[in-house]
Amino acid sequence: MTCIVHISDLHFGREQPLLVAALAAQIAHLAPDLVVASGDLTQRARPRELRAAAAFLSQLPPPVLVIPGNHDMPGAHPRRLLDPWRGWRTHFGPDLEPVVAGADFIAVGINSARRWGWHPDWSRGRLHPLQIEAVAARLQATPAHALRILAAHHPLLLTPAGAGRGLVGGHVLALARLRAAGLDLALGGHVHLGYADVTAGIVVAHSGSSVSNRLIGEANGFNLISGDRTALRVEHWQWQGHAFAVASAVGFQRGDQGWQRAIAPV
Ligand SMILES: [Fe+2]
Ligand SMILES: [Fe+2]
Repeated sequence: MTCIVHISDLHFGREQPLLVAALAAQIAHLAPDLVVASGDLTQRARPRELRAAAAFLSQLPPPVLVIPGNHDMPGAHPRRLLDPWRGWRTHFGPDLEPVVAGADFIAVGINSARRWGWHPDWSRGRLHPLQIEAVAARLQATPAHALRILAAHHPLLLTPAGAGRGLVGGHVLALARLRAAGLDLALGGHVHLGYADVTAGIVVAHSGSSVSNRLIGEANGFNLISGDRTALRVEHWQWQGHAFAVASAVGFQRGDQGWQRAIAPV
């Protein structure tokens, strides 16, 4: 069984120090096999924000898979267009799409953040067919028993509460191709809401904002995900004013038609 702590949208620069300390302690206590931080680590990719985010992640039990979000590149600054990821690479390394392979899982990051787009909402993300194909190739080269995990900042699935946001560009191709490559679980953020459900036979779990004060009607939180390629349990942990605790849980089972919600949490 694999145990994953999934955090997101830390937004250092708008972080709440009490929650930062509590989250680090909670993750250490949970001792997961993998931590995934699914983007928007900072508010605006300022050097002090990137430094603080990197210092926080360095406290967590390894391995930690981290991918950027749309807030992790400069805002109204020429570098956004010329060299948007320079600050990120200084603190998190050259690879914007890291891969972590464990004994019973593979986790593949994909960078969905774009410096601009042909639409008024520049925060929207996109996946290029070549990125999707590269992920599919990694998944297909993975041993059959290993849980196949994708981390992408922008959503492959939205709930009614997030219906005003857009799905990530390229989601139709991504879901079809990655399902064919055996993807089990996609992790994301961006909408600052915690939820988990199935789309196209793939379990999609989003984490709320784990420690920032950029909230949209939902308490800070993270996900604790456990299971294997036959069954998964996603727990949404939320801040209760003094500590993080389990707020809800949902179970999933994999059958001939791919993943489905279980009648009760597994
Ligand atoms: Fe965010
Ligand atoms: Fe975002």
